[in-house]
Amino acid sequence: MTWLVTGGAGYIGAHVVRALVQDGQRVVALDDLSTGEADRVDPGAVLEEGSVLDRGLVRRVLREHGVTGVVHIAAKKQVGESMADPLLYYRENVEGLVALLDGCRAKGVDRVVFSSSAATYGLPDVDLVTEDTPGVPLSPYGESKLVGEWLLRDCERAYGMRAMNLRYFNVAGTAAPELGDPGVFNLIPLVFAALEQGRNPQVFGTDYPTPDGTCVRDYVHVEDIARAHLAAARALDDGAPGATYNIGRGEGSSVLDVLRVVQEVTGLDTSHDAAPRREGDPAFVVAAVDRIREGLGFTAEHDLRSMVASAWAGWRLRHP
Ligand code: WQD
Repeated sequence: MTWLVTGGAGYIGAHVVRALVQDGQRVVALDDLSTGEADRVDPGAVLEEGSVLDRGLVRRVLREHGVTGVVHIAAKKQVGESMADPLLYYRENVEGLVALLDGCRAKGVDRVVFSSSAATYGLPDVDLVTEDTPGVPLSPYGESKLVGEWLLRDCERAYGMRAMNLRYFNVAGTAAPELGDPGVFNLIPLVFAALEQGRNPQVFGTDYPTPDGTCVRDYVHVEDIARAHLAAARALDDGAPGATYNIGRGEGSSVLDVLRVVQEVTGLDTSHDAAPRREGDPAFVVAAVDRIREGLGFTAEHDLRSMVASAWAGWRLRHP
């Protein structure tokens, strides 16, 4: 078996490549290095440089490496950017998947693990978000991920492909400092950036109907995310049918919980500034995780402290 990991030089992709290599799988990473970095790719994998939109390249890579399954992670992933430039998101995330699946169909590759997102749910008004909670995404980013799931469902019906849609909740942490998230777009890196610049971190909304008034999210360690991909890939290799799974911990942490843990880990003062609510932010998004536990035998192992501590080690490596 050989697994192709698209986006394999990116933050999440490099962790997935590493988990597959450590499991003894043959792995090829395809990455256009727009945000990925070649030296993140585990030396046990082969790196092919280029875009999934390059149909000729996709076919060559599938053929030359004898690829039997694809983990598709290459995508744009910033909600705000997707509102400003939806065509970019439909091109990269939807056309990119179409191009990849064209190649898979031509080369008889029938197994796909798809990087989906809790953004497909939009503003879920439930205590725990199950995979059956109706999806009403609020951004072109979330829409592009839901469209990807529909595309895969249709390819399952028509061509007999099997797809595992993995809906990530809030990914954080790193398995090794050099694999840390280089982006400064999400809460934990934004808090680190503020502390480094001697500013107070901002808390977007302190009047939400949650226990401490700040938004609650389900933070999950990228190493756990990578293990879930490995479990999904192995299940497909064992003949499992396609499925859709949340990947979270099933536990909520508020923005103030995160600040408290950052203070414990870094020893820095995380006094914050209360800022207005950010448009489109749901108050409470926590995953139901029974389906992935039963279907793939997967349970997240790392807690919030482990995420923050590892993310901080990664941050300090990049910002000495
Ligand atoms: C987390 C919480 C903010 C910054 C997004 C996407 C989602 C997924 C993960 C990919 C929120 C609050 C943030 C700050 C703050 N991406 N916050 N001050 O919005 O939950 O999820 O990334 O699949 O689809 O929507 O993540 O890290 O931006 O915010 O108070 O400076 O932290 O309001 O409650 P979010 P986030």
